[in-house]
Amino acid sequence: AVTRTFSIIKPDATKRNLTGAVTKMLEEAGLRVVASKRIQMTKDQAEGFYAVHKERPFFNDLVSFMISGPVVVQVLEGEDAVKRNRDVMGATNPADAADGTIRKTYAESIEANSVHGSDSEENAAIEIAYFFKPEEIVG
Ligand code: CMP
Repeated sequence: AVTRTFSIIKPDATKRNLTGAVTKMLEEAGLRVVASKRIQMTKDQAEGFYAVHKERPFFNDLVSFMISGPVVVQVLEGEDAVKRNRDVMGATNPADAADGTIRKTYAESIEANSVHGSDSEENAAIEIAYFFKPEEIVG
């Protein structure tokens, strides 16, 4: 089925002027950008977005990294979008990511790993609603 997922192009990628290159890989993987905006996340916004990780040892560093520069938040649409996006992103740690994936190609480290993507359709709906109003999404 055609579904939606949520994506973030992270500060390590926007700083290296890779917004277009990353988006091209998403599009070539069969995903369509149906909403997109470049934002500077606030600390509160980043802490809320990653609340599920707040007990993890990397939480504070992760929040600092995510507010260290602009990000591009996107809604992606396509056949089985969550899985399709996870496949093209590759493993969280670029050292483990398969050839041809976004993280293998561009990520700098497990933290500065260029992209975020929802891990389930349930979380995709929550994450999309965290950043977008329904009228900002045009399929
Ligand atoms: P993301 O998919 O955005 O979800 C949580 C993020 O935490 C992850 O990508 C990484 O950028 C970051 N992170 C930093 N250290 C770790 C770690 N040890 N394990 C998992 N995620 C980590």
